[in-house]
Parts: sequence; C-alpha cells; structure tokens
Amino acid sequence: MTYEELVKKALEARKLAYTPYSHHAVGAALLAANGDVYLGCNIENAGYTPTNCAERTAVFKAVSEGVRNFTAIAIVGGPDNAEHLPICAPCGVCRQVLNEFVDPDSFDVILGTDDPANCKIFKLSELLPLGFGPKNMSFLEDYNK
Ligand code: THU
Repeated sequence: MTYEELVKKALEARKLAYTPYSHHAVGAALLAANGDVYLGCNIENAGYTPTNCAERTAVFKAVSEGVRNFTAIAIVGGPDNAEHLPICAPCGVCRQVLNEFVDPDSFDVILGTDDPANCKIFKLSELLPLGFGPKNMSFLEDYNK
C-alpha cells in the first residue's frame, strides 16, 4: 500500500462524511501494521458535541476489531462542495487518540489533497510535541503489584 493509494482511500472515505451542520467533510484511512486499512469519516450530530472526527472513527473501528498496531494515517478534508482540497491537519483530540496507540516518532500522518500525489507527511511527534501518552501512566504498574 503506497501513501498515494492510502490518500485515495481517504478521499473515498470522505464521500461518506455526514456533515449537515459544518459542511466540512473529512476522510481518513488508517494503515495497520498487518496491511489492513480502516476507513473513517466525520459523523456530525444535531447536538454538535457528539460529533466524531474522521480520524477517530477510523481508530475506533480498528481498535474495536482487535487491531492496535498502526503505521500511518492519511487525512483529507475541506468544504463538502469543494472542488480542490488543500491539506487539512487533524484536531488536537485526534492527535491525542492516535498517540495512545502508536510510537509518535515513527507513525506517519499524511495530509492529503484532492490530488493523491500531492501530500505532506509528518511524524505524529511533530504534530503533538511532548505528547502525554501511555508511558506517562506507567507508574500505575506499581499500584497494581
Ligand atoms: N473534523 C474531523 O473530522 N477531523 C479533524 O481532525 C478536524 C475536524 C470534523 C469535525 C466536524 O464534523 C467538522 O470537521 C468541522 O469541525
């Protein structure tokens, strides 16, 4: 699976975004270490706060199916009627959720556009410097002895 192919999958996922309130449609394609790809779109809600971002939809689908090892995620987003999509970075909550399951120094975040060959690639640690993660909670092991 090339990153260009992964962006194409994110563009497909974006077509299913449910965005009657913001009209900002996002698609994500999460590449698992075993080669499987989990797609996600944003799913909005009349109550606004229950809205789920595309990236978290993809992570939650994978984790709920027993998959927790990931190598990269491709993300595309923009107005749902847009012809051209500039790069769209993940929100802070999604960066935090990704940080729970990956090594932030090796996990690639691919920010795609409507042209799958044109993307920017970051390590999660660049987008979430000094992130708070599972290691910060490892002291709990002492409590469980
Ligand atoms: N959104 C995402 O799906 N991912 C992000 O990382 C940022 C925001 C969605 C949430 C909401 O449906 C819409 O974009 C506008 O915030």
